[in-house]
Amino acid sequence: MQAIQLREPGGLDKLDVVELTAPSEPGSGEIKVRLHASSLNFHDYAVVVGMIPTVDGRIPMSDGAGVVEAVGEGVSEFAVGDAVVSTFFPNWLEGPARVGDFTTTPGDGVDGYAREQVVAPATSFTHQPKGYSHAESATLTTAGLTAWRALVVDGGLKAGDTVLVLGTGGVSIFALQFAKMMGARVIATSSSNDKLTRLRELGAEHTINYKETPDWGKAVKALTNGEGVDHVVEVGGPGTLPQSIDAIKIGGHISLIGVLTGREGEIPTAKLMAKQAKLQGLIVGSRRHQIEMIRAIEATNLKPVIDREFSLNDIADAFRHQESGKHFGKICLTF
Ligand SMILES: NC(=O)c1ccc[n+]([C@@H]2O[C@H](COP(=O)([O-])OP(=O)(O)OC[C@H]3O[C@@H](n4cnc5c(N)ncnc54)[C@H](OP(=O)(O)O)[C@@H]3O)[C@@H](O)[C@H]2O)c1
Repeated sequence: MQAIQLREPGGLDKLDVVELTAPSEPGSGEIKVRLHASSLNFHDYAVVVGMIPTVDGRIPMSDGAGVVEAVGEGVSEFAVGDAVVSTFFPNWLEGPARVGDFTTTPGDGVDGYAREQVVAPATSFTHQPKGYSHAESATLTTAGLTAWRALVVDGGLKAGDTVLVLGTGGVSIFALQFAKMMGARVIATSSSNDKLTRLRELGAEHTINYKETPDWGKAVKALTNGEGVDHVVEVGGPGTLPQSIDAIKIGGHISLIGVLTGREGEIPTAKLMAKQAKLQGLIVGSRRHQIEMIRAIEATNLKPVIDREFSLNDIADAFRHQESGKHFGKICLTF
């Protein structure tokens, strides 16, 4: 089978297309999946360029979608021919968060899904939403579930709430879509005026160019009659959190998700305290969360926004496209 392997210390010229021995038949509790798609996340980018060190020969990519080719003894949830999508934390099935690192995450701590076939425990996959392509399904594992958990599971989002999303990457566009699906209002930011137009087409009520309006936190507050928003999906980190604290309503909920501006920095803690806002770090979600998200997707016909699809062989070009920041929503690999 064809696969991609990363040569350490990483770099987009260190992604090799290789031929590996096909996996053996699934054992008890396992399934064999013919993978057909993956999707790119900032985390995958960090692994392949060496920002997150991994082992030599690692197969990258956390997201995988495909078709069940064989089922092992005792597997009743899946049958041959079922369309399935992988989970980010193969061992976190349900209940409160149990993992605080990436040691079990495909494409980081263990081999990922940039390959044609895999044998894995059946519990490391769920069914795909009905009517989804493999590429659409692959967007759910990381970006979709993170946005879902931030707003719906942990944020308790309800109709009428106002949500602020930052930039137009995979997580933020899903957050916009889930917010609209749940009957919330959305304010969205981007560095590009063309992308702001597309955000409005997707249902954002107000948009702000964060490059032209560096004090966008105050601008968001002004757009909400001085009250602030109920939820911020914070993908920026230290460079954006002070503005997000300006934008949040008293008692609001900030989901601290991303590191786009760095890993540590100065935060106005007294202002956060005065806002009496909840600041919650989170990493993706459990298998149960994924099943519940897919149920909601099937009930509402939500479809992910896919910017571009690349073949597996063109994985480096796909990451170059992500690196350019020109994308809007998700970039996928199909194979
Ligand atoms: N904690 C978790 O579970 C989790 C899960 C998934 C992702 N993440 C994190 O969330 C972040 C986004 O991930 P992703 O995969 O969605 O990334 P992505 O698709 O690569 O998104 C990149 C986009 O972010 C926007 N951006 C960049 N710098 C920004 C800034 N200073 N302010 C506002 N927007 C900015 C840009 O949008 P414009 O071009 O519109 O300006 C850019 O196109 C990353 O830090 C990633 O590690 C965390």
